[in-house]
Amino acid sequence: MEPLTLALAKGRTTSASLSVFEKAGIDFPDFHADSRKLIFFDTSGKIKLIFVKAVDVPTYVEKGAADIGIVGKDNILEAQADIYEMLDLKLGKCKVAVAGSAETDRLSNQSLTVASKYPAIAKNHFQKKGQSVETIKLNGSVELAPLIGLADVIVDIVETGTTLKENGLSIIEEIEEISTRLIVNKASFATKSEVIHPLIQQLQGALEEAKA
Ligand code: PRP
Repeated sequence: MEPLTLALAKGRTTSASLSVFEKAGIDFPDFHADSRKLIFFDTSGKIKLIFVKAVDVPTYVEKGAADIGIVGKDNILEAQADIYEMLDLKLGKCKVAVAGSAETDRLSNQSLTVASKYPAIAKNHFQKKGQSVETIKLNGSVELAPLIGLADVIVDIVETGTTLKENGLSIIEEIEEISTRLIVNKASFATKSEVIHPLIQQLQGALEEAKA
């Protein structure tokens, strides 16, 4: 039987995610986050791990290049991918929020410019409130944007709040709680259910054991 392909997000939660698999009895003995190799197999040879950029995980899963994926809710929301979200690994907890400086006219400005790594999340959020915004896509150091007049506010990840604080910014609105999730390709969910369902149960068991 073909192995199940798992797309694992590169980043802060990589090793904690793999620990959950380990606790569930699934080991990837050759895996090293700093290796240049991109494909790894578990000991049984039944799971093929592909190690990819977090932002790309929903695409791999939606297109069926991977059957399942482990990635943050932020990237899932931003990708708007047609996938099933099956399990919350409760790792990498943070939030996506609107933030700005104290002088920001608490979002009443009609022509608001929003800088973000997550332009789709930002656009959806303001659209729901009936406020039209111009979004500017940035790839990092987003907190700089309101400080140098590139944007009125930002939509970004807030974990400890240190980056906001150190740049004189604060949360204006919280948009969404974020954590690492397991996502599944819709076709694989039906055709490979005899592998995917037990795997989800194993992982769920490992998470509950860790909690106890
Ligand atoms: C993320 C995020 C914030 C920061 C939040 O950036 O975009 O800037 O972490 O964390 P904090 O609330 O604990 O300070 P990252 O470190 O990924 O770097 P980047 O700005 O280059 O994207």
